[in-house]
Amino acid sequence: MRHLIDPMDLSVSEITAILDLAEKIIHNPEKYAHCCEGKVLATLFYEPSTRTRLSFESAMLHLGGKALGFSSPSSSSVSKGETVADTIRVVSCYADICAMRHPKEGAPTVASHFSGIPIINAGDGGHQHPTQTLTDLLTIRTLKGKLDHFTIGFCGDLKFGRTVHSLVKALSRYEGVNFIFISPDELKMPAHLFTEVLDPAGLSYRETASLEEVIGQLDVLYMTRVQQERFSDEEEYLRLRDTYILDTEKMALAKPDMIVLHPLPRVNEITPEVDNDPRAAYFKQVLCGRYVRMALIMTLLGVAGAPRLEEREKDTAQVVTQGYHCTNHSCITLVERGIPPKFVPIEGSQGSYKCLYCEHEAQKD
Ligand code: CP
Repeated sequence: MRHLIDPMDLSVSEITAILDLAEKIIHNPEKYAHCCEGKVLATLFYEPSTRTRLSFESAMLHLGGKALGFSSPSSSSVSKGETVADTIRVVSCYADICAMRHPKEGAPTVASHFSGIPIINAGDGGHQHPTQTLTDLLTIRTLKGKLDHFTIGFCGDLKFGRTVHSLVKALSRYEGVNFIFISPDELKMPAHLFTEVLDPAGLSYRETASLEEVIGQLDVLYMTRVQQERFSDEEEYLRLRDTYILDTEKMALAKPDMIVLHPLPRVNEITPEVDNDPRAAYFKQVLCGRYVRMALIMTLLGVAGAPRLEEREKDTAQVVTQGYHCTNHSCITLVERGIPPKFVPIEGSQGSYKCLYCEHEAQKD
């Protein structure tokens, strides 16, 4: 059984096969309308969502399956203190596949260790959001015709933006992708994504605070919301939230064939006037999300006509359980009872370790 927790859980060829299937579904939805009959999707959302939860449920309904779940922890026994581990053991008795969103980083990983059904990470804190990545990849491939040799600018909250972290990881495996990271100092990309992902891949990237300075170089502009819910200091959020506002004046500086993506929801960072620009692709992106999630559900359930995923052995040889602790206050291990701490070496480092659940660098005891 395979789970999707991190975009790197899928090889490039597996991603290509899922995107190919999504395209086939787009062109012939009737052919797939019954292929998940008798199957049930559980959506366990411990944090608010419009697109991800509804697109997963819509995807399963359009495949002929059924969906159940909760959209807030307050309407489930989580509010009585039930752990993620116990919740997924129970849900495994009711459903065939599960999409989970959680404010704590690493929660879907914990679920996958106790689950009898495939777990899909539908967003964990500021960490990862791999199905948004599949959505983004399908949108870029559809509109630009390729996933290599282009320049992409990520703009806004690159520190807490989980969709950015996942898309950067995924794109790091395609040739000739040039990354420009546009953010204020306070919201820069986590350093580990440079040292562990982009540097080893030998990819070119730069950081800047000015959108105007670089917008003319971009083939894809990936705008993001400043993630209010991740800030511990409300004043800092208020100071930073309007750092970048994409408007028609800035769009006039961009290439005629640049596309604008945004995982949504947006707040102020794209003015409504930009929606009328043919380069604004964020609502096409939303539709891609439903089709790619249909393809993913089919693939993880192993239904006929879906790509076959080979089983993967977990490499546990380098996991250590003692000598370190995780200091990330958003890590699931700090709140979930009974979870053994686990740490793995940081590739390319001089003996540093990171938390297996949230990927933050661990501290020695
Ligand atoms: N893009 C995205 O994850 O949107 P929701 O938070 O509405 O699911």
